[in-house]
Formats: sequence, structure tokens, C-alpha cells
Amino acid sequence: MTRWAPIGIAALSLGGILTITTFHWTGAGVGAATADDSIERGRYLVKIGGCNDCHTPGYLAKAGDVPEHRWLVGDRLGFNGPWGTTYPSNLRRLLRTMSEDDWVELAQTTKTRPPMPWFNLRAMTEADLRAIHRFVLSLPADDNPVPDYAPPGHPPKTPYIVFEPRAPKS
Ligand code: HEC
Repeated sequence: MTRWAPIGIAALSLGGILTITTFHWTGAGVGAATADDSIERGRYLVKIGGCNDCHTPGYLAKAGDVPEHRWLVGDRLGFNGPWGTTYPSNLRRLLRTMSEDDWVELAQTTKTRPPMPWFNLRAMTEADLRAIHRFVLSLPADDNPVPDYAPPGHPPKTPYIVFEPRAPKS
């Protein structure tokens, strides 16, 4: 036992040095790469997750040809249906008001009016939700105003799309 103790201690110290050295070598690099990676992933998720389709003015009409600095600022084009008229929120403003943890909690619990696919937010992993938060906060602040929700019977004051299923004429 005593014979092996010094070797053990030497190995432990070497291990410690190696660990510390490795941490110093890669710590900053890996950390920075991870932050960039998650912003990039957030950009990707927002794009393929369809968030821009409603939350970015003109995105559908221009087939996605809208510069990133106009993404997710909310829209004055309402969605009208039996629920009244809803307006896609300004996500740039909303996400700035909440920490990453608050955002994860909201995304996992919120149930909005249509046509927001709130169930898709719930289906995302926590890592993906955090990536979206990081990406949205990497965009400049934007306070673009969005009209308030108008309940049924209150005529919308801005242009709107009517969500009304119609049966084909037979
Ligand atoms: C089909 C249109 C549509 C799509 C696609 C869409 N949204 Fe929405 N979103 C809306 C509308 C409309 C509202 C406002 C709903 C309301 O007033 O109840 C909304 C509201 C929200 C809210 C506010 C929730 C709350 O509790 O206040 C968040 C957050 C949100 N959307 C995030 C997203 C994200 C992230 C994506 C992409 C994964 C997305 N939305 C895709 C239309 C859409």
C-alpha cells in the first residue's frame, strides 16, 4: 500500500494538472462555440418552425425574402375567426421581457387562441426553446406595436384574414 501511495498521488496530481490544463485550453473556445451554435440553431428552428410565417410581416407573401432584422416583430395583419381577432405577438419585445427560464416555462405551458400552434412549442425540447430565446435576443430590440386582441363581435381595425372553413358547392 505504502509502496503504491506515491505513485497514486503522482497520478492524481498529473490527472489534476491535465484536467485543469484541458479546461484552460478548451474552456473558452468550446464555450464560445456552444453559444454561437445555439444561436444558429435558434435561427434554424425559427425558420423551419414557421414562426416567421405569422410573426414576421410579409414573410409568406414574399416567400421568406425578408431580412433578418425584420423577423418576429409581430404583425398588424389579424386572424379572424370564432375566437375573435388575434395578432401575432412581437416576439422580439416579448422574449426580451423574460429570462430564458421564464421563456421555457411559458412555451411549455401557454395555450393561446388560434391560429398560434402553441402545441408545437410544447413539443420542442428545452434545449431548442433555449436556442430560440438566444437567437431572438441576438436580434436588435424592436418595439413594433401590435394591435390588441379583439374579442368576437368587436370588428378588427386593421386588415385581417378570415379563418372560416367552407364546404364546396355541390
Ligand atoms: C399560423 C400563425 C402562427 C404561427 C405559425 C406561429 N404563431 Fe405564435 N402566435 C400567433 C398568433 C395569432 C398569436 C396571438 C395568439 C393570441 O392572441 O391568443 C401568437 C402568439 C404567440 C406567443 C405568445 C404566447 C403567449 O402566451 O402570450 C408566442 C410566445 C408565440 N406565438 C411564439 C411562436 C413561435 C416560437 C412560433 C414558431 C415555432 C410561432 N409562434 C408560430 C400566430 C402564429
